[in-house]
Amino acid sequence: MKVQSPNDTHQDSLLIVEMGDDVDNEFQHIRSLLNSKEIAEVFLISKDSDPAVLMQAIKIGAKEFFLLPLKEEEVRQALEKIKKKRKKINRKKSPQPGKIISIFGSKGGVGATTLAVNLAVNLAQKKSVKSVALIDMNMMFGEIPLFLELEPGYHWGEIVKNIARLDSTFLMNILAKHSSGVHVLPSPATLSDSRSAIPDMMSHLIGFMQKLFEFVIIDTGQFIDEISLKIMELSDNILLVSLLSLPCISNANKILQTISELRTFPEERIKIVINRYLSKSDIPLNDAEESIHKKIFWTIPNDYATTVSAINNGTPLYIAAPKAQITRSLNDLADTFVEKDDHQKKWWQILIKR
Ligand SMILES: Nc1ncnc2c1ncn2[C@@H]1O[C@H](COP(=O)(O)OP(=O)(O)OP(=O)(O)O)[C@@H](O)[C@H]1O
Ligand SMILES: [Mg+2]
Repeated sequence: MKVQSPNDTHQDSLLIVEMGDDVDNEFQHIRSLLNSKEIAEVFLISKDSDPAVLMQAIKIGAKEFFLLPLKEEEVRQALEKIKKKRKKINRKKSPQPGKIISIFGSKGGVGATTLAVNLAVNLAQKKSVKSVALIDMNMMFGEIPLFLELEPGYHWGEIVKNIARLDSTFLMNILAKHSSGVHVLPSPATLSDSRSAIPDMMSHLIGFMQKLFEFVIIDTGQFIDEISLKIMELSDNILLVSLLSLPCISNANKILQTISELRTFPEERIKIVINRYLSKSDIPLNDAEESIHKKIFWTIPNDYATTVSAINNGTPLYIAAPKAQITRSLNDLADTFVEKDDHQKKWWQILIKR
């Protein structure tokens, strides 16, 4: 942060004004600086909280209002807030690569596809999320098109064969678009097409998708092989789905151990999700945490009737059962991946409460 002279104004400047006695004149001057965009934000300092001054401060859109004597911590926090906001704006100016979230089952049938599909469509419903892609990596047995009642024309087997010619228009044209807004890339239905997948090509493809989408959700399946390890390596977050059953917990443990031995990416990226959770389970959550030496990140309630009916109708849960507890849980899970606006409370709301 640098202090500027009155002649050295700039569009991004923050103006800090200690209000004197000629309040009307001072507000007029501040307003004209804001209107001409010579300054971007204003902090006001005043010796009292005169309601007339407060009203004017609200009207001009002052970001903070400090009472004298100044409290150092309050000022520091306000400046931090501005700094964060600037960073966010700058990030928007130069688009960041999309976030990759891969879903990995600790065993077959634990709900990896249910989670991947519903996480993707829930993210696509968030106001702040612009684009979501969903990739099915289950060779031959990919089920995402069934879960979303899609009839895709292409799968990634065809894309990786033509990887050298891959361009964004081509890719956008061949992805299947679901009504939720999610773009789906299914897996090949035959073994010969699946063979074309090699880790380098898959990372090229995923890197490409990352440039086009804010979120890339990958249903990785349940096998640890060089492709799934590559995907995990590229992922920002890996959701390891497990049930509270002995075989699942034991598998989760083996997967975590393997990953920590391989040391190709930090183990903290892995988040444990317990699916089909029942509070009266034989294995309590803290016992499971003890045996896998890791905190459980999320639990999704057990609701077979709702999930199976949604799957059979090819409908995501937010449409099939918007009020169900499982739908709410999956929606809240999606929220954990969306950045929150840190401007929760305005300064004048805080001041009024004093
Ligand atoms: N929270 C839940 N409560 C009850 N049943 C669930 C839940 N989540 C998923 N299921 C059921 O579990 C079954 C398997 O789900 P899903 O196909 O998503 O698992 P998967 O791990 O992808 O399986 P696969 O190994 O075959 O790919 C489905 O019948 C689904 O209805
Ligand atoms: Mg599956």
